[in-house]
Amino acid sequence: MTSRRSAIPERKADSNQMWGGRFAEGPSAVMRVINASIPFDKRMWRQDIAGSKAHVAMLGKQGIVAAGDAQTIADGLDAVAVDYERDGVPEDLALEDIHMVTENALAEKIGAVAGRLHTARSRNDQVATDFKLWVRAAIDEVDAGLAALQTALLDRAEEHADSVMPGFTHLQSAQPVTLGHHLMAYHAMIARDRGRFRDARARLNQCPLGAAALAGTGFPIDREATAAALGFDGPTTNSLDSVSDRDFALEYLTAATQCSLHLSRLAEEFVIWASQPFGFVSLSDQWSTGSSIMPQKRNPDAAELVRGHAGRIMGCMTGLMMTMKGLPLAYSKDMQDDKPPVFEAHDLFGLTIAAMTGMVESATFRTERMRALAESGFATATDLADWLVREAGLPFREAHHVTGRAVKAAEDAGVRLDQLPLETLRAIDDRIGEGVYDVLSVDASVNSRRSFGGTAPERVREAIAAARRENG
Ligand code: ARG
Repeated sequence: MTSRRSAIPERKADSNQMWGGRFAEGPSAVMRVINASIPFDKRMWRQDIAGSKAHVAMLGKQGIVAAGDAQTIADGLDAVAVDYERDGVPEDLALEDIHMVTENALAEKIGAVAGRLHTARSRNDQVATDFKLWVRAAIDEVDAGLAALQTALLDRAEEHADSVMPGFTHLQSAQPVTLGHHLMAYHAMIARDRGRFRDARARLNQCPLGAAALAGTGFPIDREATAAALGFDGPTTNSLDSVSDRDFALEYLTAATQCSLHLSRLAEEFVIWASQPFGFVSLSDQWSTGSSIMPQKRNPDAAELVRGHAGRIMGCMTGLMMTMKGLPLAYSKDMQDDKPPVFEAHDLFGLTIAAMTGMVESATFRTERMRALAESGFATATDLADWLVREAGLPFREAHHVTGRAVKAAEDAGVRLDQLPLETLRAIDDRIGEGVYDVLSVDASVNSRRSFGGTAPERVREAIAAARRENG
């Protein structure tokens, strides 16, 4: 096959065979390395082949390239794809990037006719198209992963719709809630995250191909056709913007950052809950590690890494923001640095979603421990105050004060609020009657919080049912 190299236009010394016509010398060794994106952009080879096939089919249809040549090129691209699938993409730094590596591979297969593929396009619109296709597929992957995580949260929430745990503010025991309600809070966050990815996908789905280098082209191309062939809603509207826009990559990264921030919060809860003083959860063997010197240990490493990866994903986002900041129109080579942060973030993000899903699915929740702590933290103090307002007609501020004294009495006696004798309560305020015991238990407390979006088990079950309907 190498004999076909003769089909490629002759080049001087080591100058680039694709664009080296006006260059007398080749690049310095360092230039070759700093200039090359093939080590990372080869990851877009499927998108590059798909983009080229759509382009050449259009060129053939428009009579810009003879129909027979267009067919030869399309078949050649299929053959290159077979090679890539089998052997991987060759990392030829001299050829710079996936676009030129592929064109070169095509020339080796079909000879000089390969040179017709690049008619009426540029690597600038080509790379924007490839990358958009890649990010679009990445969003679809993320969405499937997040849907699975939501299912795991729904399943565990349903199982624990009645399991009482302390609800916290300031990480202080505040009011009893149910574990189901707590898990559904994360379901709600992820629903917003999926919405952000959906929005980003809809906004990115316009095809830059045909913007050419920056100004459009004089050839009679059909941009609607290439856009449709690649599953876009239509072509982009401004050629300068088309080749310089990386909003789609930034939107992927910002949505991923915000979602990974949510996952880091859930991960942190798992770390806290898995600690001995809390003892709310034991993570399964699959998602923990032991210590090399402390045999009793069972560390929540996966949760800690989800927490940590959020920082790295955020770093990828700020990195690309910095790269794009202040760039004049249109394409600048800085923009070649757009791919590594997106690829890195996507890999880290995929791992965090999968690990979090696994942890949620397999965690053993220690509900007796949760209930004991909910009962021990005077978490029903607000229920006592509310009862004084409702049943004894006290203004809330006064009820708050009376309740404070009751909490103090319970603390001094070393008992729970619902274990205080009626005489003790009546000594604090004689408007307190027997009926108060109906609200002082943690179960009574959660059952009473029936306002829409509240923690009462019946509301949590409704929220789960609504979420299942929405997820389809
Ligand atoms: N390797 C380049 C990139 O990834 C492709 C576009 C190059 N365009 C150019 N005018 N040098 O951004």
